[in-house]
Amino acid sequence: MFSTDIYVARRKELCRRVGKGLILLPGNVESPFNYPNNTYHFRQDSTFLYYFGHSVPSLVGVIDAETGVDTLYGDDFTVDDIIWMGPQPTIRDFAEQVGVAEAKPMASLATDIQRAIALGREVHYLPPYRGETKLMLSDLLGVVPSMLHARKSLDLLFAVAEMREKKSAEEIAALEEAFEIGYQMHTTAMRLTRVGRTEHEVAGAVDGAALRYGTGVSFTTILSQHGEVLHNHDHSGIMTDGRLLLCDAGGEHLNGYVSDHTRTFPVNGKFTQKQKDIYNIVLKAHDDAAAALRPGMMYMEYSDVASRTILEGLKSLDLVRGSVDDAFAAGAAYLFMPHGLGHGIGLDVHDCENIGERSFSFAEVEERAKASACCITRQWWRLMPGTVLSDEPGIYFVPALIDKFESEGKFKGIVNYDKLREYRDFGGIRLEDDLVVTETGSKQIGSKQIPITVEDVEAIVGQE
Ligand code: GLY
Ligand code: MN
Ligand code: MN
Repeated sequence: MFSTDIYVARRKELCRRVGKGLILLPGNVESPFNYPNNTYHFRQDSTFLYYFGHSVPSLVGVIDAETGVDTLYGDDFTVDDIIWMGPQPTIRDFAEQVGVAEAKPMASLATDIQRAIALGREVHYLPPYRGETKLMLSDLLGVVPSMLHARKSLDLLFAVAEMREKKSAEEIAALEEAFEIGYQMHTTAMRLTRVGRTEHEVAGAVDGAALRYGTGVSFTTILSQHGEVLHNHDHSGIMTDGRLLLCDAGGEHLNGYVSDHTRTFPVNGKFTQKQKDIYNIVLKAHDDAAAALRPGMMYMEYSDVASRTILEGLKSLDLVRGSVDDAFAAGAAYLFMPHGLGHGIGLDVHDCENIGERSFSFAEVEERAKASACCITRQWWRLMPGTVLSDEPGIYFVPALIDKFESEGKFKGIVNYDKLREYRDFGGIRLEDDLVVTETGSKQIGSKQIPITVEDVEAIVGQE
């Protein structure tokens, strides 16, 4: 946790931005995976964590945006709870640790919210993403779960995203610590990779490193020789001579900040020339995007830098023909990289995406989203100092996508489909690091580099 004054200042600034009504910020509850007392690893809601600091289940924060009075709701442990889970600070202790004025039992929450509603006050909440939170909000607000999304607070949504997007010095320091976990995870994967070993064994060691140095993974580890499957969680493969292994994994630091990196490397420790050619194009796209990143740049401009480098590289291999400008304008980069170049990183591995573009159509708030230009929609996202985002270009050979576009006559004269047949079983390559936008450009998060050049990768793979 950070110091008390940081949480006090954040809540004060949130009140200033929202201006009126009550701000209701539910923390997460424990989530059972097969019976109530056998729960998944607890993960606090990131917005609750940002304003109230505690990674403890079943707490709710409420802030009166007009008076600034804040309240933490929750129930103190009973002796029964202590028998099973050990002693726990009281709700008042939790409140005091983060400078919250009031501490109340959970039973008071419904009374207080209903009183505010009866007085005609607005109750601001973010779009909920967990079933338990939806049910709680539905009960508290008297709104059926299917209508909760329609009644979310845009004022709160923009205020939270704008605040969370700009990382302070202490948040950058926490991200630097999360990098160290990512470094351990990825170098573990490289060292353990060798022909004949299962993907499962390496994936387990990668996740173990996340638990050894932090609280665990920041998302389900992607580790596969089928790198062309973007979010491949199948680890059943046996490492095969001549294949590439893609590892996309990140760890979470004790105070909730995360890392997200990808490396792709040869199972047998030595790239073939064909693999090296594609790898070095992806590496150049990664480096070019980082070098181009400037404060004030639109996200789409940043992304386009990588797309152009990829098209130039593929042209040099005769996989793309004609001018790079024409190929770019036709959208041909999508065939090879059917995902964006990056996303925000912070307390969430896709920072604020629960309140952002994945959660609803921005057409309904287009003007406001353009004016805000924050991370909630990549289309109108302006990258400013303090923004942390990933830089993750890739080149993938997805047979189904190649066949679809070829049969539709798409990119005719631009994509060399004949030559592309030689790459159908290539797989995919992605390289990913996390960048912070500075006053003059950008800086990679981390005190060192996870091996990324061909030479450095070949030097570590298989070196147990
Ligand atoms: N969590 C996968 C990625 O965005 O890199
Ligand atoms: Mn990733
Ligand atoms: Mn990522």
